[in-house]
Amino acid sequence: SIAIVRDKKNPDRLLMMMLAARGGYISGEEISRKFGVSRSAIWKQVNHLREMGYEMESSTRLGYRIFKSPDLLFPEEIWSKAELSFLGDRIYYYSTIGSTNSEAKRLAQEGASHGTLIIAEEQTRGKGRMGRVWTSPRGTGIWVSIVLKPQIMPSEAPKLTMLTAVAVTEAITEKIGISAGIKWPNDVLIDGKKVCGILTEMSAETDVVNYVVIGTGINVNNDIFPDEIKDTAISLKIAAGNAVDRIQILAGFLERLEYHYKTAMARGFEPVLNEWRKLCCNLGKPVEIVTRDGSFTGIAEDIDEQGALIVKKTDGKFERVLSGDVSL
Ligand code: BTN
Repeated sequence: SIAIVRDKKNPDRLLMMMLAARGGYISGEEISRKFGVSRSAIWKQVNHLREMGYEMESSTRLGYRIFKSPDLLFPEEIWSKAELSFLGDRIYYYSTIGSTNSEAKRLAQEGASHGTLIIAEEQTRGKGRMGRVWTSPRGTGIWVSIVLKPQIMPSEAPKLTMLTAVAVTEAITEKIGISAGIKWPNDVLIDGKKVCGILTEMSAETDVVNYVVIGTGINVNNDIFPDEIKDTAISLKIAAGNAVDRIQILAGFLERLEYHYKTAMARGFEPVLNEWRKLCCNLGKPVEIVTRDGSFTGIAEDIDEQGALIVKKTDGKFERVLSGDVSL
């Protein structure tokens, strides 16, 4: 398995330059002038990009250009497409991993900083909520975990998950013009089927959060799903009718996430929770709530200031649900 660790301040400079040219040529002379290296050193670096999967054209007259990218979520691809101020300052990129969430927790224990991203092309033990498995085949989706160190009370953490669901939903609409909705607590749906799931894990003491890991799985170019979920899952490709650029979706998602995060830390969660309410497809509707202790039905009235779902039961009593699932 290939693992790459990179800091935004110290990227692969040739790759950044070639990506900025967006398929256009950059002359060998310009490269050696900017980097102060010889023509043969450039040749070596170009071949390194070729080994990474970039198809490079080289012409003595015009220089170098990328004519085909490998469709991989390399850190430089993210930095060159997303405008971010702290998110992704350090990125861990894995070809294969068990679970990006497990790796993120391990790195956070070892002191990984606020905004660190852990990305994998494939997860062999992808984790879903409530002990479920998250199918994460190679190169099809976005399997990413984000380490955050927010100054909030542990009880506020669920709102970060809701914020993340809003960011994913907005990115989908913004980038491919397909309308998506949120099912409480944080599933993103298209046509009533799940396109994204979020698993937040936290390390906290009584009144302080050490770190939060927000794991997000977005089905982007999946063509098929395992039998157990084939009727309830969807990918952006299936919804759009054509393959979707994963980098573009990831970049949009991270930008929206950073925006809402900064706003929430500066002015509170109310603005993003209002967005969540608008995007939620359960509110005002009949729901069946499934928790560990059993299930009940009622009308989903609203969410409270902690992100709990307020359900008006058939007997008229209100129930506050902090964790569970909505079926129906
Ligand atoms: C859910 O059950 O809806 C949550 C699914 C979360 C999946 C993502 S993929 C990246 C991260 N790593 C994991 O092992 N799980 C999350």
